Amino acid sequence: MSKVIFHQPQGAEGLVQKWAGDPPADVRRRPLRDLRISVTDRCNFRCTYCMPREVFGSNYQFMPHSALLSFEEITRIAGVAVQLGVQKIRLTGGEPLLRKNIETLVAMLAQLRTPDGLPIELTLTTNGTLLAKKALALKQAGLSRVSVSLDALDEPLFERMSDSQVSVSTVLRGIDEAARVGLAPVKVNMVVRKGMNDEQIVPMARHFRHTGHILRFIEFMDVGTTNGWNLDEVLTSAQILQRITDEFPLEPVAAGYSGEVARRWRYTDQAGEIGLITSVSQPFCGSCTRGRLSPEGKFFLCLFASQGHDLRSLLREGASDAQIAAVLAGIWSRRDDHYSEQRGQETVHREKIEMSYIGG
Ligand code: GTP
Ligand code: 5AD
Ligand code: SF4
Ligand code: SF4
Repeated sequence: MSKVIFHQPQGAEGLVQKWAGDPPADVRRRPLRDLRISVTDRCNFRCTYCMPREVFGSNYQFMPHSALLSFEEITRIAGVAVQLGVQKIRLTGGEPLLRKNIETLVAMLAQLRTPDGLPIELTLTTNGTLLAKKALALKQAGLSRVSVSLDALDEPLFERMSDSQVSVSTVLRGIDEAARVGLAPVKVNMVVRKGMNDEQIVPMARHFRHTGHILRFIEFMDVGTTNGWNLDEVLTSAQILQRITDEFPLEPVAAGYSGEVARRWRYTDQAGEIGLITSVSQPFCGSCTRGRLSPEGKFFLCLFASQGHDLRSLLREGASDAQIAAVLAGIWSRRDDHYSEQRGQETVHREKIEMSYIGG
């Protein structure tokens, strides 16, 4: 167990006190490298696989504002996590751009520095509806990149899947504006649900070739308990790849960094790159370095966890950075989660957190 020694903060990087112990590793020897922070449980879409309207209707009780972590509280936890080894922070939701003044939070997080004094990578996953309006402010605040969800180009299908009145062109405008202001490369996430939008795989590939945006196909996952997941609706990455290569030949690309979620492929005619996220057919738990912070300050060790660890009480009871770091390191060092490797008929009905609450 590492020693908890703290130095006083120094200079601009000293937003939190410095951790002088070893970075924690979990029981499977995975370090804590990425922190995904959900800033709201609300969304202006009702994607049928994430927030079905029968469950998330007008009577659904979202979290009251007072329950949410403030920007200062988020930054404090993130700062401690960076001291423990986090190098990459992703803002998610719900829809993170619905959180008021989100660019202020981005500016605060962008000032964090690793123990070696390096800036962190700061990204955000959005449904793109407010992106055209917000992209420039986010870039100026210090955001590095964005990932944008888009499941179909066909308007009626997109409306049905997102259960919204928003037009595909609004999302496409958001994507282009993000790239224009330098939040690039933009990654476009398409969840593939067999029998629902798999006919859109090739049109989506064709549309994003030569744009510089990286289209990623995500296998439909059994996140949460409300999305009615069934293995029959999963089109595997191998099947997705086959459909694309029938049209446009691809060759594999080496991973950009260890533990990268997406497997990379590029078109042999230099038209760009795609990614495949194979959580169901080829789980990647062995290299999972991701911790997740919920909007009200619970720390989750897996996307499929049922329980989180309450950090908000700790903060509001006046814990020091040293105490928060020791708690976080302790939680991480006991982590043994590897849900995607255990997935089976018996795990599907387990109590799990919702994607709309914890983010992707
Ligand atoms: P970058 O490559 O840096 O953009 O990060 P990323 O690949 O983690 O990007 P993103 O957050 O867009 O993740 C894409 C999707 O992969 C998410 O929306 C999830 O659906 C899925 N995903 C990400 N992390 C995990 C994970 O830890 N476990 C599982 N099962 N799925 C994940
Ligand atoms: N399976 C796979 N991906 C999902 N997402 C949301 N729910 C699921 C699911 N059940 C994706 C969204 C978005 C990201 C936040 O996670 O489409 O791209
Ligand atoms: Fe909203 Fe994303 Fe869930 Fe769709 S998948 S309802 S856009 S949080
Ligand atoms: Fe990580 Fe859990 Fe996803 Fe496995 S299932 S990659 S442990 S978040």
